[in-house]
Amino acid sequence: MQVSENASLKKFNTFGIDVKAKKFISVDTVEELKEVLKQTYAQELFILGGGSNMLLTADINKTVLHINLKGKEILSVTGNEVLVKACAGENWHQFVLWTLKQELGGLENLSLIPGNVGTAPIQNIGAYGVELKDVFEECEAVNIQTLEQRNFSKQDSEFNYRHSIFKTSLKGQYIITSVTFRLTKSQHILRTSYGAIKNALDQKKIFSAKIRDISDAVIAIRQEKLPDPKELGNSGSFFKNPVIKKEEFNRLQQQYPEIPSYPVSPSKIKIPAGWLIEKAGLKGYREGDAGVHKNQALVLVNYGNATGQEILHLSQKIQMEVKEKFRVELEPEVNIF
Ligand code: EPU
Repeated sequence: MQVSENASLKKFNTFGIDVKAKKFISVDTVEELKEVLKQTYAQELFILGGGSNMLLTADINKTVLHINLKGKEILSVTGNEVLVKACAGENWHQFVLWTLKQELGGLENLSLIPGNVGTAPIQNIGAYGVELKDVFEECEAVNIQTLEQRNFSKQDSEFNYRHSIFKTSLKGQYIITSVTFRLTKSQHILRTSYGAIKNALDQKKIFSAKIRDISDAVIAIRQEKLPDPKELGNSGSFFKNPVIKKEEFNRLQQQYPEIPSYPVSPSKIKIPAGWLIEKAGLKGYREGDAGVHKNQALVLVNYGNATGQEILHLSQKIQMEVKEKFRVELEPEVNIF
């Protein structure tokens, strides 16, 4: 366990925002975690995972609890199914690479997503045609108040697009300590239909792709479009892609016939926020050190010393301009504190 006071959180959030925590505790085991929970009131705690989906706009006048639990193992192999468990503090991408090294299929499309294993279920991370829920078996979590340990099945977790029970009715009540995934040993189910993956494979003349090829393609696509948080602070997509009513979509499509869209139900359509932001003329826009990424308008970036307030201000300007131009509301995907 590591404890410090008045600690900078710059290294612990991928936006690279330099705010301070009144107290900072990093726990390496579930026992240490429980010890801290026993000694600290829940309202006094601020839980920190990989720091990849948050915008910090002010100093944290609480005890920041950094979940640094490490470890990963293959639990069982039954026929073609392999259950793999990883502790919450494992870096997500390193874990994905480890599963690929074991020749296990299922996580390849989710390569290079920033963050840790333990926070992945909270927003049901997703990319290139796969969501965490597709490979999720269960997770273990500790109740912050009672210290009781509980397993959450896929059904318990109420996953949806960038959504889970840990973000809604159980928000702030549990700390996820490990996640178990259901992967495949062979006869992998390859998901290559996402346009960009198809193009990347075709370009390399790979016609019978292996899981590693898909991972490589995803890594290449992400590297081209999305800034590496180590080089340029960011939190991935800042907004969710809005889901709008079919009638609203028809109205937009009349004005903008080229608007991309993905049906989610007979009456609802998802449209890319990145497209709206770009069309509003804000791609590459910059205010001081806060900016809209030049290759992916859905990603806000910190060019160096932007404050959380400055990024927040920029995000509000984007919301306003998109609303004015398209009458569509953008909802942040990142958690704002
Ligand atoms: N687009 C633009 N301009 C832009 C960005 C996108 O016109 O600046 C258009 C693209 O041309 C394309 C469409 O918008 O037609 C979708 O773009 P893209 O494939 O890049 O995906 P996205 O909808 O912007 C979502 C996820 C990403 C994920 C990608 C790939 C959300 C909020 N974001 O982005 O997730 O990597 O799909 O599956 O759903 C994240 O959550 O942090 C994240 C990066």
